[in-house]
Amino acid sequence: MSNADKLIIFDTTLRDGEQSPGASMTKEEKVRIAKALEKLRVDVIEAGFPIASPGDFEAVEAVANTVTDSTVCGLARALDKDIDRAGEALKGARSGRIHTFIATSPIHMERKLRMTPDQVVEQAVRAVTRARQYTDDVEFSAEDAGRSEIDFLCRIFEAVIDAGARTLNVPDTVGYAMPHQFGQMIAALRERIPNSDKAVFSVHCHNDLGLAVANSLAAVRNGARQVECTINGLGERAGNAALEEVVMAVRTRPDIFPCETRLDTTQIVNCSRLVSNITGFPVQPNKAIVGANAFAHESGIHQDGVLKSRETYEIMRAEDVGWTHNRMVLGKHSGRNAFRARLKELGVVFDSEEELNEAFARFKELADKKHEIFDADLQAIVTDTNIAQENERVKLVSLRVCSETGETPKADVVLTVDGEEEPGSAIGGGPVDAAFKAIESIVNTGAQLQLYSVNNITSGTDAQGEVTVRLEKEGRIVNGQGADTDIVIASAKAYINACNKILQPRTRAHPQKADV
Ligand code: KIV
Ligand code: ZN
Repeated sequence: MSNADKLIIFDTTLRDGEQSPGASMTKEEKVRIAKALEKLRVDVIEAGFPIASPGDFEAVEAVANTVTDSTVCGLARALDKDIDRAGEALKGARSGRIHTFIATSPIHMERKLRMTPDQVVEQAVRAVTRARQYTDDVEFSAEDAGRSEIDFLCRIFEAVIDAGARTLNVPDTVGYAMPHQFGQMIAALRERIPNSDKAVFSVHCHNDLGLAVANSLAAVRNGARQVECTINGLGERAGNAALEEVVMAVRTRPDIFPCETRLDTTQIVNCSRLVSNITGFPVQPNKAIVGANAFAHESGIHQDGVLKSRETYEIMRAEDVGWTHNRMVLGKHSGRNAFRARLKELGVVFDSEEELNEAFARFKELADKKHEIFDADLQAIVTDTNIAQENERVKLVSLRVCSETGETPKADVVLTVDGEEEPGSAIGGGPVDAAFKAIESIVNTGAQLQLYSVNNITSGTDAQGEVTVRLEKEGRIVNGQGADTDIVIASAKAYINACNKILQPRTRAHPQKADV
């Protein structure tokens, strides 16, 4: 047993991460990510903001009913109705936490809340007291703590600890703090609050100045023992502190940080890919830990050094964060057991035989077209299978596209919409444009295309293309994904996936802005 303190990792990809424009997730997608986070062994999964909409409530409830090894948390403003809704959504959780918050900076109290500091303290205490009726695990956040007065923070934190809060979160909501100053703030709070030993200090840093991870680590140096973070640093505006960076910094520098996490870091790359796939937010190649180049040595001097002794230029091992050699794993003749076993090694467990059968059928189809199947191909097959199983109103039956020099490309598509087959045709500037227009002529979403991107999953001209399509309609943004060795078909699948999302009714609210 080590003597190091425990650092609690609180993942908010499903809540703050989802607040990034365009990153909204369906209930099924949230459950999939939650399962991956549980496998990563994060301590707390913040699954959403249950009062925001029936969809948010159901997603938090579904995560609470699925996850057993991590605490599941629901966000609530310091209002009775929010807390009751969060308590209700978490009823099935093996371990559930209510996270309630109210703003404490002068600017937020005066201009947003239009409340006096006394009223804010009173409302915070009332909220924590009410949340304790549902669970012993109550977290209180002082929104915009980074710009709040230290005397007032001491006062409100002392009061909420007395009311039963067990975690005190200090958010740098607008990403304004500097590491040395934020670290001092945590040290001062711990020192000055008389009952501070009864609570865990937590931080939640935004990345507006690119300092979210640095601020979080400065806080850990000064006694914070929970960090709120997201996979790939997803989140509101410039994002939140990236989980993978915080966790690997603490693990790589035990000489600096006297604490450790319980995470299985070999699951990091899987989680990163899954979140990127589902949200359509690509990971930049030079992103620390999870970028494609994070462990690639290009210069001759570096390569030579690494070959002689890897520690010359590598401070972490690629395998420790889940990078596997992109080796050829399966082929046309591989059977179901080999397929299931390899996916299990990659952290994918099928919920049912039906799901396995469908994914295996897709694998065989792909193996007919593509000689070598790599890990990344398998992951794309699983994503595609999951997409196909999620309440789809619109499905692709067939697509034919003619593209010839000197001729206008034309697409003929057949879809099923609510089970009824419907044909559509259109011409376009290119084959993808024609395919999208042909689909739109049937589904009539009226949405605007905001982003279209293609990535090859592996190398080679027979590689699968992974396409992301972002659509916007009346302020609502959705992402769709599709993968295929034919990129026009991958594009059509991605467009249809986005249409299915835009066709779902949804009312969503933002915790910090909305009046719901
Ligand atoms: O950034 C923030 O202040 C938040 C709180 C709700 C914790 O997300
Ligand atoms: Zn936040």
